[in-house]
Amino acid sequence: MRLSRTLTATVVTALALLLTACEGDYPQSSIDPRSDFAQTIHTLYVDIFWWTMGILAVVWIAMAYILIRFRDRPDAPEPKPVHGHLGLEIAWTIVPALIVVAIAIPTIQAVFSTQQGDPEEAMVVDVIGHQYWWEFRYPDHGVTTANELHLPSGRPISLRIWSADVMHSFWVPMLGGKRDANPLRLRPEGVDQKYNWIHLTADEAGVFWGQCAEFCGASHALMGMRVVVHDDSGFQQWISDWKGEPVPAAPADAAAVASADAEASLVRPAALQIEAGAEAASVPQEPALAAADPLVERGREVFHSNTCIACHAINGTNAQGAIAPNLTLFGRRVSLGAGWLENNPDNLRRWITAPHEVKPGVLMPGVAQAGGNWPATNLTEDQVEAVAAYLLSLK
Ligand code: CUA
Repeated sequence: MRLSRTLTATVVTALALLLTACEGDYPQSSIDPRSDFAQTIHTLYVDIFWWTMGILAVVWIAMAYILIRFRDRPDAPEPKPVHGHLGLEIAWTIVPALIVVAIAIPTIQAVFSTQQGDPEEAMVVDVIGHQYWWEFRYPDHGVTTANELHLPSGRPISLRIWSADVMHSFWVPMLGGKRDANPLRLRPEGVDQKYNWIHLTADEAGVFWGQCAEFCGASHALMGMRVVVHDDSGFQQWISDWKGEPVPAAPADAAAVASADAEASLVRPAALQIEAGAEAASVPQEPALAAADPLVERGREVFHSNTCIACHAINGTNAQGAIAPNLTLFGRRVSLGAGWLENNPDNLRRWITAPHEVKPGVLMPGVAQAGGNWPATNLTEDQVEAVAAYLLSLK
């Protein structure tokens, strides 16, 4: 008796502790939709969940009835042997078939409704998977960024998804996915490129977490991203800041802006070739320097006189490399290493010093390790500190 009481107490305590783990913030929850796309998937999921609960209830009630009604009793007669029952067999073939059809109809509807974009209205963003980071290009704006996708809320977005190397999959559970990012280079020349698309409208401003959802190599699990959804003026501000331009006056007619964007968004495949790289086409101009911090100045010098600029671009500078993340406005990013580390000076120094230790398989060379085709950078500790300060000053 005592033992069973102890056991009960232990089980109840363990369950209570387990349930407290359900409290908290889940930035990658797949049951907390914040876009029309995610809502469609969620509605389908909840509908099917209640279907299965209904089936569970019917099965359990029938089972309980059978267990009680037909249990063996001391004076019970021998049960009558039964062989086959046509009615039952028809019933348990037809009923599951009907259930499957009832689930299939809304599922197929959801598949088609999430494939339909609104190319007239939508802003196109290229989402390009790389081992192991994400590139985002805004062909309407000539803007390129990495690992943090900035979007306006309440406006239709068409994400045109592809890959620069192997297969990846774009997945931001609260907004949309999963959609494979397929390598374009595998297609024979002259064959129309087949992109995958996600069409969505984000409900509200916020920061949403995402993750590569297709095994793509050693650091697949470390290939995350953030989506920063702004209100419309916040998004315009971000674009203007990226270009180093003054913010345009608030448009009197948002629809006019949308249609102007749609015109500009006509697909321009030539500009999208990987070789063409970052269409960081806006006129180079000196970015506003975080004036006269000698460490930042020194970092700027080190960055721009080393191999960093062979791969990385920073708008408004001579760094125009197009094979690694574009670092414009890097100081605003909340994460680094594709959503893997918090963006702060300590982590950034760690990353510049030994990126392979953070992310196995990364192409970026470290201070003492080669990476990709690049030799080790041989930066001193002071130089690393200065470069980190410079990058964090890019806001
Ligand atoms: Cu990219 Cu997994």
